[in-house]
Amino acid sequence: MTNIWYMALLGLNPEIQEKIRSDLLKLCKSKNDFTPKFEWRTLLPYVQAVEFEFFRFSSIVGILDFHCSLKPIVLGGYSIPKGSLVAVNQYAINHDSSRWEDPEVIRPERFIDNEGKFADRPDLMPFGMGVRMCPGTLITKGYGFLLLCNLCMNYKIEWSNENECDQMVDDPENAVLFRFPKEYFVKISKI
Ligand code: HEM
Repeated sequence: MTNIWYMALLGLNPEIQEKIRSDLLKLCKSKNDFTPKFEWRTLLPYVQAVEFEFFRFSSIVGILDFHCSLKPIVLGGYSIPKGSLVAVNQYAINHDSSRWEDPEVIRPERFIDNEGKFADRPDLMPFGMGVRMCPGTLITKGYGFLLLCNLCMNYKIEWSNENECDQMVDDPENAVLFRFPKEYFVKISKI
């Protein structure tokens, strides 16, 4: 699922591919010298920011797993009795314009601070939170990072849909458990 979203979002944003490639070339001098490692994450804040912006935009798990309240609680003015089923609509949070300026725009710079460092945001929770948080978090972040590095260094991904309205990959109606992009076509060339 990560692959399907990454191909679409990279295809729609060629300038992101270019910037990742140029950051990687600064680090490894030449393409022949290129073997990305997980430890490079801290050296490549922009790549990390792209990964998080893709997490935000795609909201792959649109509604986080259901949980049950162990005791009565008041949250945001709402009384939640003990034993209620509670679900977090992550898609709605990630596309809320009071939290994210132009939420429908892909803008990795949201996750870069004034010093050019990667800046996480507590309201982005692609893997849930608390004791039942996804145990695959680290492996997925590592996979996403290496996927972005390898794709951008070795391939050019071009959006190849014919008409303008096909530019929309996201379907807001699709705020369900697992979210896929709409059908799309990309051309992938080796560089
Ligand atoms: C794009 C990749 C992934 C995303 C976005 C994702 C997201 C999530 C989310 C949101 C939850 C629910 C957390 C909650 O209840 O608050 C979850 C649970 C879980 N995930 Fe992932 N996950 C991903 C990949 C993986 C991988 C690679 C593994 C295994 C290696 C994994 C294993 C699990 C398991 C076992 C749970 C249930 C944990 C529990 O209920 O205690 N996930 N994941």
